[in-house]
Amino acid sequence: MVTVPITVALILAAGSGSRVGGDIPKQFRPVRGKPMLRHSYEALSAHPSISKVYVAIGAGQEAEAFAALHGLPAAIFVQGGATRRESVRLGLKAIATDGDADRILIHDAARPFLPSTVIDDLIKALDEAPGAVPALPVVDSLSRGDQNLSETVDRAHLWRIQTPQAFAFADILAAHEDWTGDEPTDDARMLMARGGQVRIVPGSEALNKFTFSTDFAGSTMPSFRSGNGF
Ligand code: CTP
Ligand code: MG
Repeated sequence: MVTVPITVALILAAGSGSRVGGDIPKQFRPVRGKPMLRHSYEALSAHPSISKVYVAIGAGQEAEAFAALHGLPAAIFVQGGATRRESVRLGLKAIATDGDADRILIHDAARPFLPSTVIDDLIKALDEAPGAVPALPVVDSLSRGDQNLSETVDRAHLWRIQTPQAFAFADILAAHEDWTGDEPTDDARMLMARGGQVRIVPGSEALNKFTFSTDFAGSTMPSFRSGNGF
């Protein structure tokens, strides 16, 4: 008998969006006609291989989160933390308590446009490694410097890493529980620090993160970027 691994998703929506600013955190602001969080929640909850979608939210964000996901298959809300890493750690612990999960996709709510092909590729890659990330090759020139450029950096083999990041659940839970380093910007780095292999699958410009208020310019219209199929 073949047992199919249980795959769940965790969307991180517990940030305050301080660089974007404004009255409500960016993940609840409208982009292309919907609250930002709703876009990736729809993509993950509709994917046939994902059985549950957990959403980490901050204290006091309940009303906005409920409103953002109104009418969709019920989300499982978990309490986020003061930093992204803490939100992931608390989310993983809640998921471990809630039931069976063999694999997990960890995703930033701030990356609303999530192609289903990326989800497919990540899940497939987990057959071969305990971690997988979507990434795009760096195409600009890279250099170090302060006021003037001082040193050119070879961009060969350099990647812009996105989310969702996919992991064998037990491995990423252990990585978070044991982590003593500085604040990492993503989870793959924590698996790598334990010697876990992380595969690269093709990323997408659609997955770029909303970080500054200018990232919202032009993307409030439902038809914007429709060429990408979203
Ligand atoms: N995040 C989280 N818990 C935190 C901090 C961040 O769940 N304590 C989430 C954010 O909601 C976001 C993702 O992690 O979806 C990526 O973080 P980032 O883009 O840095 O969002 P914020 O931390 O909200 O923004 P800022 O750093 O500008 O305050
Ligand atoms: Mg942040």
